[in-house]
Amino acid sequence: MRLHDDQLKEISARFQAEMKKGLSSESNAAAAVKMLPTRVRSTPDGTEKGQFLALDLGGSRFKVLQVKVREGMGIRRGGVEMEEKIYPMPKELLIGRGTELFDHVSESLKDFLHEKNISLEKKHPLAFTFSFPCEQATLNQGFLLNWSKNYRARGLQGKDVVQALREAIDRTGGMDVEVLAMVNDTVATMMTCGFDDQYCEVGLIIGTGTNACYMEELRHVDLVEGDEGRMCVNTEWGAFGEDGALNDYITEFDRDVDATSNNPGKQIFEKMVSGMYLGELVRLVVLKMAKLGLLFDGHVSDALRTKGKITTAHVAAMENYKDGLKNTKNLLTDLDLTPSSDDCVAVQHVSTIVSFRSSNLVAAALAAILSRIKQNRNLRTLRITVGVDGTVYKKHPQYPKRLHKVVRRLLPECHVRFVLSDSGSSKGAALVTAVAQRLASRRRQVDETLSPFKLSQEQLQLVKTRMRSGLEAGLKSKGPSTIKMLPSFVYRTPDGNEHGKYLALDLGGTNFRALLVNFKKGLQQNSRLYHKIYTIPLEIMQGTGEELFDHIAQCVSDFLDYMGMKNAHLPAGFTFSFPCEQTAIDTGTLVSWTKGFKATDCEGQDVVSMLREAIKRRNEFDLDIVAVVNDTVGTMMSCAYEDPQCEIGLIAGTGTNVCYMEQLKNIEKTQEKTGKMCINTEWGGLGDDGSLDDIITPYDIEVNQNSINPGKQRFEKLTSGMYLGEVVRQVLLDLTRGGLLFRGHVTEALKTPGIFQTKYLSQIESDRLALLQVRSILQQLGLDSTCEDSIIVKEVCGAVSRRAAQLCGAGMAAVVDKIRENRGLDHLNITVGVDGALYKLHPHFSGVLQETARVLAPQCNVTFLPSEEGSGKGAALITAVATQKQE
Ligand code: BG6
Ligand code: BG6
Ligand code: GLC
Ligand code: GLC
Repeated sequence: MRLHDDQLKEISARFQAEMKKGLSSESNAAAAVKMLPTRVRSTPDGTEKGQFLALDLGGSRFKVLQVKVREGMGIRRGGVEMEEKIYPMPKELLIGRGTELFDHVSESLKDFLHEKNISLEKKHPLAFTFSFPCEQATLNQGFLLNWSKNYRARGLQGKDVVQALREAIDRTGGMDVEVLAMVNDTVATMMTCGFDDQYCEVGLIIGTGTNACYMEELRHVDLVEGDEGRMCVNTEWGAFGEDGALNDYITEFDRDVDATSNNPGKQIFEKMVSGMYLGELVRLVVLKMAKLGLLFDGHVSDALRTKGKITTAHVAAMENYKDGLKNTKNLLTDLDLTPSSDDCVAVQHVSTIVSFRSSNLVAAALAAILSRIKQNRNLRTLRITVGVDGTVYKKHPQYPKRLHKVVRRLLPECHVRFVLSDSGSSKGAALVTAVAQRLASRRRQVDETLSPFKLSQEQLQLVKTRMRSGLEAGLKSKGPSTIKMLPSFVYRTPDGNEHGKYLALDLGGTNFRALLVNFKKGLQQNSRLYHKIYTIPLEIMQGTGEELFDHIAQCVSDFLDYMGMKNAHLPAGFTFSFPCEQTAIDTGTLVSWTKGFKATDCEGQDVVSMLREAIKRRNEFDLDIVAVVNDTVGTMMSCAYEDPQCEIGLIAGTGTNVCYMEQLKNIEKTQEKTGKMCINTEWGGLGDDGSLDDIITPYDIEVNQNSINPGKQRFEKLTSGMYLGEVVRQVLLDLTRGGLLFRGHVTEALKTPGIFQTKYLSQIESDRLALLQVRSILQQLGLDSTCEDSIIVKEVCGAVSRRAAQLCGAGMAAVVDKIRENRGLDHLNITVGVDGALYKLHPHFSGVLQETARVLAPQCNVTFLPSEEGSGKGAALITAVATQKQE
């Protein structure tokens, strides 16, 4: 049992390897030392406050407490007041039914409330120190991996003990208690000591059992998402050796202790170290020596043969400085032995060797933890405090000194301070709970803020109904309608016979595009496409009409140069993604600008003429503008070229809109009454008459008021890329002002309209992104966030984009059901051609949209086909159809 320093160093190295094994997700399952993440991310900082009940279960004493934490200011930490009562824990409960154990716990709690005159009406937050290995996904949950020490209650292993406690409290009744956090005793001890010493980042227990926890870098904790900051890891080092790692140090006495224990094969290290076993080890050695005739003249008493007759308290007494030998004599006499003074010296020596081995082993394992921390932080020297608790450490007169000495010898380069936890672990548990309480109340407030974004099935059904009435009203020639239902003069989708070279211009999405498309008859796959993208500066979007169209003409000129086709005089199609009143395929009067455009002198004008005039002004090239089409129509045509079932076009991009093939007989505005025509619905206008006010949130109102077209495009403002980021920003502003985000600091970045572009929303919501990456996106945007902040930002984005997708899905359900009813069908199979950055780039938008449409239009089987080449190709197809008709 004597271990010299080389051996201790070796044991230390082995334990280091075990820690690594436990931390890695690959080897954790097979690791003996479980390295359990505790969800505790920081040591106390003095801002903790509140009044808590606490339960302390698993050490040598079961206690109920009340802990009051007063907040401190600046570097001055707050104060803590505690009242406690120790309750008996009958032995039979330790090995009885789990429910009975917890009933006893909760009845003791109730008794405590009575005795201390604590109100039974008020809700009391509770901190739970539970000194056993638990897997924790959150602070208020803990699945018991296995019992250790003297506990073996049935029916709790693998169960959530917090839930078991809650159920017991319910069974007892008459108390309003909320269990907010559960912590291991090591963690609670570290927190207790951390309240007075900011260097305390290790918690150590040498009591009935033994264990340690420490602050590990989160990037090394594979089992927890995130890479930044630290998390306290409960090592459960008592299990060290379960896989044989200590076999060469194990004695026959250790084997005996293990074989007769509650949990044979388990907690091998603990059985060499902790209070529950030290006395027994001494007894077994003394017994063997007596049997060999080395003690008591070979006399062995029944008492000496009886398990448990020598306890850790005896070990401590035997090693007492002054009275050690006297105590040894008394103990041996009590065991019906008649020891000589040599016997007493020898037995005292045995005791010393056993307890010395214990402190040496703890020193070796602790040295492993400390040097790991030092390596993690890349430090040459480490200044650190270890918070310690447990009866062995507290009651054994020599133990602390021996331990400290060996640790310092093993780690000469570390300045290690040991602090005894004066007030047990409950103070620390309450501090953890205070943080948990703050988070829980933040959670509630965030949930409340986001709840208006969560639409019920009934609300979505209502949106579908309103969309349907809007579509019907728009088809009428008279009466008001927020949905314009503009005839497109496109009568059919392509049939594959289109051929020739066409130019297409595409204005109104994120960018302006010029394209050249070459169609070959019957060879859809082989159509060739060349394009170039141009950005339209904001001052052009919002300058004069002439400037805007001159700019377009300049881009076209550049494109023709680039293609070497300046003199080709090509037929051209113009995708113009705004509402236009059309009387023919090649004229379109702009009804009103939408999205980010506001160029003057365009509304009420024919945009084709404006483009022709700009080309004329430039006097450099000529174009034959054959068709003007909305982007929805272009998208539908482009997808229909691949899939003849495609009779709907959907855009979910900067703006949102839908077109579909309607029966001419239903369109009052047109003369013809047979066949079909594509209708550009301009569904973004739904709600402009207030019909969506019941789902509109204060954030939407703010976004609408700050937009360039207040009161217009209300549906679009709830659903499209140009606005979603702004809605998110408004929510974040509100949460920040309420102190729930960014530490309450409203920064310039957050006050900047437009910082959250759709692409950022898409990135933030990507499931593949670690929190750290979310933080770095926010950082790029000038938003300094903590981990918790990033989680909330991601949630806000999720709520806003989900609502958008659901609303589009509800709208789509109205459209497909209308088409189905037009055709008098019970069941409709139809394809929707889709385009737009929101649909294509957002990780969840398309899924939620499709699912909503499926649920709200159960009689339709809707296939969504993303457009490959944008709507420009569709415009070219329409041009081809139109020119070939002319031919
Ligand atoms: C106490 C803690 O201070 O130390 C207990 O509050 C913990 O929860 C104990 O288990 C460890 O010591 P022992 O000796 O009572 O097992
Ligand atoms: C493109 C079309 O493919 O999709 C554009 O060609 C359209 O005309 C756009 O407006 C919609 O997407 P976004 O995301 O650019 O608005
Ligand atoms: C046992 C438990 C552990 C606890 C320790 C000290 O080892 O498994 O969770 O920390 O005892 O009480
Ligand atoms: C806006 C426009 C509409 C366009 C849509 C998608 O809603 O008004 O015409 O189709 O954005 O780009």
